[in-house]
Amino acid sequence: MSLVLGIETACDDTAAAVVDDALRVRSSVVWGQQQTHEQFNGVVPELAARRHAEVILRVVKQALDEAGAKPGDLSAIAVNNQHGLIRSVVVGVAAARGLAFARGIPLIPLHHVEAHVFSAIMTDPALFEEHICLAVAGGHNALIHVHSVGDYEVIGRTLDDSAGEAFDKVGSYLGLPFPAGAQVDKLARGGNPRAYDFPRPKLKDGTLNFSFSGLKTPVRMVAEKLQHGESAADVAASFERAVVDVLVAKAIAAAQSRDVKRLSVVGGVACNTLLREELPRAGEKAGITVTFAPPRLCTDNAAMIAGLAQYKIREGAVGALDVDATPNAPLGRRNANYRPSQTT
Ligand code: KG4
Ligand code: ZN
Repeated sequence: MSLVLGIETACDDTAAAVVDDALRVRSSVVWGQQQTHEQFNGVVPELAARRHAEVILRVVKQALDEAGAKPGDLSAIAVNNQHGLIRSVVVGVAAARGLAFARGIPLIPLHHVEAHVFSAIMTDPALFEEHICLAVAGGHNALIHVHSVGDYEVIGRTLDDSAGEAFDKVGSYLGLPFPAGAQVDKLARGGNPRAYDFPRPKLKDGTLNFSFSGLKTPVRMVAEKLQHGESAADVAASFERAVVDVLVAKAIAAAQSRDVKRLSVVGGVACNTLLREELPRAGEKAGITVTFAPPRLCTDNAAMIAGLAQYKIREGAVGALDVDATPNAPLGRRNANYRPSQTT
């Protein structure tokens, strides 16, 4: 049984995981930095990099311990070196290089967004076939035609903010700590989604692109002037409904435009309760099967990195030791000009 250690430090989560060659997750440790960044209402890159450097070896050790593995049991190490904040990515790459060099085992460099795409595939083998992937997170937001693993065509993307950023900003207007997506979700469960008629940006523009920045101001205006008797839960629910309406419509339109019958959803926003209810419902009506990555693989993690590496090794990837941090790299073969972190 071969074991791969994955390391992931794109943004503000320090993650390490061990996955075996049957794509079983043996351990997955995520060390979040919410407390570091909460007071700034967003991720401070310099602080993120420092925290990664402080904890990375402990996180790796914990992942090995929880998997019941020793460094000598590993057959390869995999790392995201292609997407995220440069100083954060550098820490993960340095750790991975050092460990791979010390053990004399291959180092597999990977793209963070490709690993998100794979997070659904590794739990639903039907997705090894052609499908559309809705990748919705804080740092990226795209519709990807997955022709096969390794062959991606980005057919829609956000023109400004990502869905995750919109959730985080609306959360801050409602006084919730960063990152607020999960708490907006929780708050919205007790609210009326029809209380406010917020815009559905680009819903009917005929493209597969998104735009969420125009939703912020109307929500902020309402949130700032909540009258007696009006509730934050109604604002959260109405906002969430507007975002989910757009995500559902565009994801179904993407599948239909490519005549593809399978859809996957990955990234932090794929944890959202309403999206998890509404997209499968819309899919059923349109004859499209929808698969969500399991929640612990949706938000940033290293199991998706180690899993993708196992697949690539099986397909013949040999790895290298001269791996550099090159964030803002394009995703996949057919997208020389698409860079997921470049949202404008
Ligand atoms: O995939 P992820 O951990 O990091 C990036 O690659 O960006 O996604 C984080 C994003 C944050 O914006 C967070 O607020 C959002 O996912 N998020 C959610 C939920 N859980 C996390 N958004 C809406 N509903 C949720 N339940
Ligand atoms: Zn991510």
